[in-house]
Amino acid sequence: MITVDSGVGLKEHMARMRSSGKRIAFVPTMGNLHAGHIRLMQEARRHAQAVIASIYVNPLQFGQNEDFSSYPRTPAHDKVTLLSAGVNLLFMPTDSVVYPRGVAAQTFVEVPDLSDDLCGAFRPGHFRGVATVVNRLLNLVTPDVAVFGKKDYQQWQIIRLMTADLGLPVEIIGVDTVREPDGLAISSRNNYLTPAERKLAPQLYETLCSLRDRIVKNGEITDEAGADAMIELKGCGFRPDYVSVRRQDDLGKPNLNDRRLVILAAAWLGGTRLIDNVEFELMK
Ligand code: PAF
Repeated sequence: MITVDSGVGLKEHMARMRSSGKRIAFVPTMGNLHAGHIRLMQEARRHAQAVIASIYVNPLQFGQNEDFSSYPRTPAHDKVTLLSAGVNLLFMPTDSVVYPRGVAAQTFVEVPDLSDDLCGAFRPGHFRGVATVVNRLLNLVTPDVAVFGKKDYQQWQIIRLMTADLGLPVEIIGVDTVREPDGLAISSRNNYLTPAERKLAPQLYETLCSLRDRIVKNGEITDEAGADAMIELKGCGFRPDYVSVRRQDDLGKPNLNDRRLVILAAAWLGGTRLIDNVEFELMK
């Protein structure tokens, strides 16, 4: 596996891969890699002959009181993981490669409305930071395909909209969430949970699954669906930000005819904010 940290180095290797006619898949990450990321690399391999991963903890997507400085950085472990996942090239850019004029001066990209909804309502500026860095990385790497986890469902949709709106020549692929045996969605931030919180954490997924089952049984979504699930979560010790039933395709509020749905939620356990979602379909 080749590791490069500069835009020039990346361009040289990209030119070589392109001249040998390889289809290229890209998996952007913030490092601290786990089974969910390995799944993304495997999916990338299914779509291309060369797989490029990046590790960059993007300052632009963290709020002032968020965990940018304490976000786990484990480059040695990550390199071993990527090597055994068969990744061909690791791009580890410095801030000046991603944001040549500095983070504060960077031209940004923002998908309107959806960026301020759901998680965006609780993390102002977060999705602008995500869209901006992903756009920047896609322009540097110029892959044919880019792969993202559907655990960050809203992020995945925002990236799909951003690449379509800007006409970026890349196919965006979403990969199903990888879960622990007890159902907890795997995430780097799970490491922040205390042992007692870790025991409670799978209740988030369980609550979303029971809400899904109730909706499927009744064949319709009631106005109280999300609020009821939030009460259940509070009863288990969570501080939910939201639980909301949306259309899969654009995360709009569903109407009576919408069948392909997703329940999205964010909830705090102590100092850790967990997110999760469950996709499902209603019968015709
Ligand atoms: O999902 C992530 O790890 C990050 O938000 C991403 C897509 C790498 C952008 O920094």
